[in-house]
Amino acid sequence: MQTITLPRPDDWHLHLRDGAMLRAVLPESARHFARAIVMPNLVPPVVTLDDAKAYRDRILAALPDGMAFEPLMTLYLTETTDPADVAAAAASGLIKAVKLYPAGATTNSQSGVRDLTRVMPVLETMARIGLPLCTHGEVTDPAIDIFDREAAFIDTVLVPLRHRLPELRVVMEHITTEEAAAYVAEGGDTLAATITTHHLILNRNHILAGGIRPHYYCLPVAKREKHRLALRRAATSGSPSYFLGTDSAPHVDALKEHACGCAGCFTATNTMPLLAHVFEEEAALDRLEGFASRHGPAFYGLPVNAGTLRLEKRADPCIWPDKIHSDAGPVTVFNPGFPVHWHVATEQI
Ligand code: DOR
Ligand code: ZN
Repeated sequence: MQTITLPRPDDWHLHLRDGAMLRAVLPESARHFARAIVMPNLVPPVVTLDDAKAYRDRILAALPDGMAFEPLMTLYLTETTDPADVAAAAASGLIKAVKLYPAGATTNSQSGVRDLTRVMPVLETMARIGLPLCTHGEVTDPAIDIFDREAAFIDTVLVPLRHRLPELRVVMEHITTEEAAAYVAEGGDTLAATITTHHLILNRNHILAGGIRPHYYCLPVAKREKHRLALRRAATSGSPSYFLGTDSAPHVDALKEHACGCAGCFTATNTMPLLAHVFEEEAALDRLEGFASRHGPAFYGLPVNAGTLRLEKRADPCIWPDKIHSDAGPVTVFNPGFPVHWHVATEQI
């Protein structure tokens, strides 16, 4: 039997939500992941250090007995964010990053940034103290085609921003294009990217050909096949600039299977088996450890986890629930559309 043992992995981009949804999805992440960078796009968003403290307490209160999980908190950048609060938040050790949502780019981004010049004092502070900026890297100009919005963000936002503030540490979240993978490859040690599980599996045909599949719709939307292949090359390259951020983003089925469906794939349950499958297909199983367990902590200046996760390839395919139950309604688990034989066998905390 083939097996691999990794240091316990982390998820460097995760949506845990709140209330009933938080209670339902948190165990799905905590089962395999030691830590996660927790996205702040609640309603209302997590803007201040006090908001983040209260949210962290709610997450820890929702963690079932016997599970170990450390939420790494982020702040949602608004045009009224106070640079002094951000500096205090970083100094407290509780906040690990600040998230830039261009206003209107995605779920709950309406409190985000319209004019980057208005947040320059915050970004200057972050550059000075070394606090990373996580970006939702899509422009919101309605004249720009949705499939071009990430590439346009690089040219019109990231290049000028990083020119102006070269010390600013930036994580391009959930990259979906070969342009983004190439930009990050040249970015040196102040730039990194997270890559989701689903963007290594889906291209835009999976969403749209032969019927519309709302559970494959997320933002940034999956692109052409050549981009999926570029993301696979990046993730399996061994470069420390790329690491796992699942962007696991639960929405109840009623809001996914809807005339105006929400964006998000829920991959917390099966990400590690899916990644083992993908890395094996790319003949890069030995590089899964870097992508899932080592490169993220290195960028964020945190230790690699002491525990381990063992994956085993078995003859029988994995069977996951189609849905997980929440008191807010059912959430569909990401279905890759092919059998997966890598099982999470044991975990040591
Ligand atoms: O697909 C997505 N879902 N992309 C995002 O940027 C946000 C996320 C969510 O919060 O649902
Ligand atoms: Zn996200």
